[in-house]
Amino acid sequence: MDELLSKENLELREQTREIAERYVRPIAAELDRNAEYPWPVVRALQEAGLMGVWIPKEYGGRGAGILNLCIVVEELSKACGGVGVTYAVNALGSFPIIVGGTDEQKKKYLPELASGRKLIAFGLSEKSAGSDAGSLRTRATKDGNSYLINGEKKWNTNGGAADIYTVFTTVNPERGSRGITGILVEKGTPGFVIGKKEDLMGIRCVPVHELHFEDCRVPTENVLGGKEGHGFKHAMMTLDLARPGVAAQAVGLAQGALDLAIDYTTKREQFGQTIASFQAIQFMLADMATQIEAARQLVYQAARACDLGAKNVSKFAAMAKVFATDTAMSVTTNCVQLFGGYGYCRDYPIEKYMRDAKITQIYEGTNQVQRLVIGRALIKESASSREGKETKE
Ligand code: CAA
Repeated sequence: MDELLSKENLELREQTREIAERYVRPIAAELDRNAEYPWPVVRALQEAGLMGVWIPKEYGGRGAGILNLCIVVEELSKACGGVGVTYAVNALGSFPIIVGGTDEQKKKYLPELASGRKLIAFGLSEKSAGSDAGSLRTRATKDGNSYLINGEKKWNTNGGAADIYTVFTTVNPERGSRGITGILVEKGTPGFVIGKKEDLMGIRCVPVHELHFEDCRVPTENVLGGKEGHGFKHAMMTLDLARPGVAAQAVGLAQGALDLAIDYTTKREQFGQTIASFQAIQFMLADMATQIEAARQLVYQAARACDLGAKNVSKFAAMAKVFATDTAMSVTTNCVQLFGGYGYCRDYPIEKYMRDAKITQIYEGTNQVQRLVIGRALIKESASSREGKETKE
């Protein structure tokens, strides 16, 4: 389906594919074993000018949008799902600045992120505020020309590796989601400590940490958009733009696993023939390839909708995430099956794909939350079309 992609899409895909094959695939197992951050890959992406693909040109990025971001994430994830997310999480962290930052914040932070000189993370979740993000409790209290932040964040992807953190706080818990305020916090700010590192099942090269804030003082100019109470909307708008990236990670993982499974089943012989010559195996391969292509087209369409600033991106982004990540889980599980006993061993690369795929159904909103977003959108659309008809009558 390359005919459906632009010259720019194809060039970015080729450029990323070369980096993935040269720098990612050879070290993917080692990064996973040692839970090690992929610095050589980040450097290669920086040199290739790929770190700021989604950042507008006026702030030093490539201005290439969400579809191109998805294409890069997909290619990296084909070789290693963990590396895919170390890249994509910079988009998640920087979208709040892009959608809600002041001009000064954009000028200060986006060029450094676009060049890859600095990395960023997104701090929304807390121990008791996961799916219910609006109930977060990290508190920001105004004190003269600054805010004092107290509290803690959980599941911070890129924690420790990142230089800048978009931290969602509440200035007034009684106001619920309307009290939530995003604040940009730089690593090294006194009172900000990178806490416990999680020991993960998959995407092990990505550091996921707790973040602790104790009387952490940040200037008022670091308040996202310069106004209190807009943080929840900025976070939701960010997730709408970022979820196609998780979906692209899932497509890459599924495609990467299928490629390995085709290679294996066309070489592995049983009963005097390759196992791929059995119809049972061909049907499995055919179903997986069809599901992956369907997921890819949905992800690309959701990304195009984001790039066009379409109204209903929340629904499409959620649909892409649900469909692609459920596909990745079922495809990677079936690929392990095709490798038989060998698939269950770490000597072969396939089991890592299954471990890496699992998180895509969980983070940036569980797939249950995505279905909630889709369901709510359907009800809203139906109510507004009813209202429209009644007005005409
Ligand atoms: N865009 C703009 N505004 C939005 C919005 C959107 N997509 N969605 C909601 N809002 C606004 C609403 O209009 C509403 O505004 P008003 O106060 O003006 O009425 C306000 O936000 C509250 O909306 P809801 O009442 O719908 O909010 P809710 O409390 O019911 O929550 C939810 C909705 C969809 C469940 C949301 O909480 C959600 O997405 N939860 C999942 C959070 C999530 O994805 N967390 C993962 C974080 S990242 C991560 O995993 C770690 C990592 O580092 C990778």
